[in-house]
Amino acid sequence: MSQDRAKRNAAEEAVKFVKDGMIVGLGTGSTAKIVVDLIGEKLSKDFKIKGMPTSIKTKQQAEKLGIELINIDDQDIIDLAIDGADEVAPDMSLIKGLGGALLREKKVEKKAKELIIIVDENKMVEKLGRGELPVEVRSEDHESTATKIENIGCEAKLRLENNGEIFVTDNKNYIYHCLFPNGIVNPKEMDKKLQSINGVRDTGLFINMATKIIIGNDEGTRILE
Ligand code: A5P
Repeated sequence: MSQDRAKRNAAEEAVKFVKDGMIVGLGTGSTAKIVVDLIGEKLSKDFKIKGMPTSIKTKQQAEKLGIELINIDDQDIIDLAIDGADEVAPDMSLIKGLGGALLREKKVEKKAKELIIIVDENKMVEKLGRGELPVEVRSEDHESTATKIENIGCEAKLRLENNGEIFVTDNKNYIYHCLFPNGIVNPKEMDKKLQSINGVRDTGLFINMATKIIIGNDEGTRILE
């Protein structure tokens, strides 16, 4: 499978759900980036939307394309959000945030009446936790927070930049990547446990949020809903 082709096919399918006048949550990552480009190409006097970006990177991309933007706190309810994901389980629960934007993504996507997730087949898993779960933490006491996270039963590694410096999120927090040896048995329960740790800002577990999963492949897409 060509991953690029699969991502493009999923993105093209998702953009069909964007209608004139909508307020749209704009995701972050390589697949969501294609969606933002496609929306930019579609803009005309008969097709205008307002975008709510999920990261500074996406905001900058959308601005360049001339997409009108609104701030994260400007609207409590938005029509639609489209974003990628790192893992998708059969029940449409997700792991997101390996792109580093999970906190804003969750905040925007919780407001969305419809959340369309676009992925390629490689992201489909039987059980969440095949790979790492990103957890965003307060920077001040991140080490003690990491110990508490590990006590839940995972190995937590601080996310670093390529140059070895600590990766800092758009909200000035740090991220730990958590690997669970047997995957995540009960994602809802795990999310609750992690959220109850003082110092955890949010987790990459997105449960009961996605309304449609568009899975791209070489030939086209298949949809889960
Ligand atoms: C960004 O923080 C993430 O949640 C992304 O949505 C996720 O990492 C998917 O990115 P790709 O589309 O680049 O795989």
